[in-house]
Amino acid sequence: MPLTRRELIEKALGAAAASALGTLPALGAQGGRVPYGSALYLPDLTADVRVGRAIIEHCNRVSPVSELKWNTLRPSDGVFDFASGDAIADFARTNKLAMHGHTLIWYADMPDWVRAYDGHQGGERLMAEHIETVAAHYAGTIASWDVVNEPIPDAAPDETTLRDGFWLNRMGKSYVGTAFRLAHVAAPQALLVLNEYDIEFAVDRSPAKRAAFRRLVLDLLDEGAPIGAIGLQGHLRGGWPIAKDELAAFVAEMRDLGLKVLVTELDVQDQDLPGPEAERDNLIATQVYDFLEAVTDSGPLESLTTWGISDQYSWVRWAYPRTDGTHNRPLPLDWDFEPKPFKVVIDHFLKKTT
Ligand code: XIL
Repeated sequence: MPLTRRELIEKALGAAAASALGTLPALGAQGGRVPYGSALYLPDLTADVRVGRAIIEHCNRVSPVSELKWNTLRPSDGVFDFASGDAIADFARTNKLAMHGHTLIWYADMPDWVRAYDGHQGGERLMAEHIETVAAHYAGTIASWDVVNEPIPDAAPDETTLRDGFWLNRMGKSYVGTAFRLAHVAAPQALLVLNEYDIEFAVDRSPAKRAAFRRLVLDLLDEGAPIGAIGLQGHLRGGWPIAKDELAAFVAEMRDLGLKVLVTELDVQDQDLPGPEAERDNLIATQVYDFLEAVTDSGPLESLTTWGISDQYSWVRWAYPRTDGTHNRPLPLDWDFEPKPFKVVIDHFLKKTT
């Protein structure tokens, strides 16, 4: 006899977590909880009324998926198109959601026209114009910014090599600290975040990436860069074990250094996990549990954001599709916006405020 979903989650997470399945509270309405957010892609908000409803019901925070990336915001040199970003900001304001800014500086999603900016000076001029304009436009709206996204290469050859790309090529390693200094001047109240993925695993290239990320944070603090937080994206790879002790120690060290810790893009890539839904959901929930247990071991999260809220609108569907004809199940709510064990697990950890 297969176990019911409730029995599975009880087995994996204990009776307390399982009993929460019946009483999923609306987080937005609760006090004393870690802020919970979802990424939001504007076309999904306009296409399906359930997307906005779910975010309003469950979240008190929102992160734009693409609306503040350069390809959307910077159609041509000197031009800023704030229409999509402002639409997300309006949705946030109307529904009393905090807005997280994703992202000012990233190696990816850069339009072709930026290539005309040559050399250190050209790069810095472009960076300054962008950060000053965008951070100022959203001052008072965006309380936290991913200032630099994904600075570490996947296969970090040593602790000091940064990911190749436009900004490194123009400005060298100093681009990261410069971005933080510019953001601090333009948005002095904002929490400034260094955001990265694959920091949490015990396998593959993750330990080297974690070491390089740590080195970059230490170097930024040494040079006095105004970094306020690290963002762990948390794009968990189904089946990859979490390095629980190492991750807990790393996060504790970051907190000891005075930094806040955010989970910014949590989801689970489940393309290689077993087909049966209940079994898969249980594995996903357990992996999320391991991750959040480690990152909250030394203190509460500043905030937790999942990269979307319903499986139906997850990027995992097209970036990491399954080949068995079943839907991916990477997020807290399923295809029909019903809560899954993933939701029980995050609710459990959102209550950890000390
Ligand atoms: C992804 C979006 O979800 C996709 O829709 C887009 O095409 C590519 O980017 N890390 C990040 C996010 O910081 O910006 C990425 O978002 C997912 C990985």
